[in-house]
Amino acid sequence: METIRRTKISDLLQREDFGATISVKGWVRTRRGNKNVNFINLNDGSTINNIQIVVDLASFSEDHLKVITTGSCIHVIGTLVESQGQGQKGEIQAKEIEIYGTADPATYPLQKKGHSLEFLREIAHLRPRTNTFGAIFRMRHHMSFAIHKYFNDKGFYYLHTPIITASDAEGAGAMFQATTLNLNNIPRTEEGKINYTEDFFGRQTNLTVSGQLEGELGAMALGGVYTFGPTFRAENSNTPRHLAEFWMIEPEVAFYDIHDNMDLAEDFLKYLIRYALDNCKDDIQFLNDMFDKELVERLNFVVANDFVRLTYTEGVKILEESGAKFEFPVYWGADLQSEHERYLVENHFKRPVILTDYPKEIKSFYMKQNEDGKTVRGMDVLFPKIGEIIGGSEREADYDKLTKHMESLGMDINTLWWYLDTRRFGTAPHAGFGLGFERLMLFVTGMANIRDVIPFPRTPNNAEF
Ligand code: 4AD
Ligand code: MG
Repeated sequence: METIRRTKISDLLQREDFGATISVKGWVRTRRGNKNVNFINLNDGSTINNIQIVVDLASFSEDHLKVITTGSCIHVIGTLVESQGQGQKGEIQAKEIEIYGTADPATYPLQKKGHSLEFLREIAHLRPRTNTFGAIFRMRHHMSFAIHKYFNDKGFYYLHTPIITASDAEGAGAMFQATTLNLNNIPRTEEGKINYTEDFFGRQTNLTVSGQLEGELGAMALGGVYTFGPTFRAENSNTPRHLAEFWMIEPEVAFYDIHDNMDLAEDFLKYLIRYALDNCKDDIQFLNDMFDKELVERLNFVVANDFVRLTYTEGVKILEESGAKFEFPVYWGADLQSEHERYLVENHFKRPVILTDYPKEIKSFYMKQNEDGKTVRGMDVLFPKIGEIIGGSEREADYDKLTKHMESLGMDINTLWWYLDTRRFGTAPHAGFGLGFERLMLFVTGMANIRDVIPFPRTPNNAEF
């Protein structure tokens, strides 16, 4: 083969210097043709679009061509020529074809288009080669980049919080333990309890459910920080919106109250959706056409309209007076279910909603307590089709109020001595929130199941790949 620098298909499809010699590499999507000429559709992941390779059968042996089947990987050197068909400017007239890897049609699972999403989950190692998952994973990248860009442009610092911790940030208890103890021969104390002093860290540890507590430490020194990392929840919820391992973005900002926090959340979400519309056009259009005909319209609508802001108490009143039938009863004090959240967003207000000031019993220990003694300065951002996409709050900055609340919840305040020190030394009002990255991905891709917006989902009874 001639040695020419490889061109990515995304670049190639922009070019108009017809006559140039091109090297292109990728995976064969289809090969079809007649006895004179074959057409190979090649994709290299750089774009959802394929480049067409035109193969003059007079120049190649049948043996050489017959292994070029769907899924095989090839390197083509050829001439960029103007395309006869519509849709794209150029195609490649093949001069040489090198076979990198074949894909036996009898066993390669991605033969035809139109596999179900359920089936594709079972072959998560190959599904990135489909148009759908290529589009989703490219968008995942662009959204990650946009998140860092947004905060960097605003002067926030990216803080790396630990994955292994000894604390329970949400007080929810649904944690995976991290241990090196021999589970077949667990060391015991004299009382028969597990002797964690023999464990790797000399104490019981778990995978983090949130980077918030350490994020607060950062905010109390750097002003504005954000985390963006994996978080783990061992809740046994098999729903289209829950993962056991998901990524979360958690800004935490000194001197913010809940209103600043809501402004940040709304601006951040709109920025990310606008970024997707501007930078992922082909992929979004594909997903719109294939899965969700209202996707582009919905994204544009959310960017263009103010979110509604109201209290939990007002929200519950609307739900109670709605006359709608819910699976779970709604009353003041109830933890809102996805059906309630979606009713407010989709049926009542018809736009994103930020609910604030929840009953303290259903929210985490760190939220700022309101004067009424009943509610806390929590906020949830609720989105169409998703329900809760963001959860956050202004934090309780008062040492006495915070420790009293923790004690009333039966928490051991000694293990969080370092967290409480922020309230002892130079405490300040501050606030923050957590955006579930995969919930955002559900929204911008229009996909219906969270297992389809992360490359290798972790859910109950599923840790393949
Ligand atoms: O509401 P959550 O539990 O809030 C926190 O963890 C806070 N520490 C955040 C903060 O204030 N810094 O989770 C935040 C978001 C949810 O709104 C949701 O989008 C997402 O994380 N989330 C999940 N996403 C996928 N699978 C799960 N099991 C999730 N649990 C929460
Ligand atoms: Mg929440």
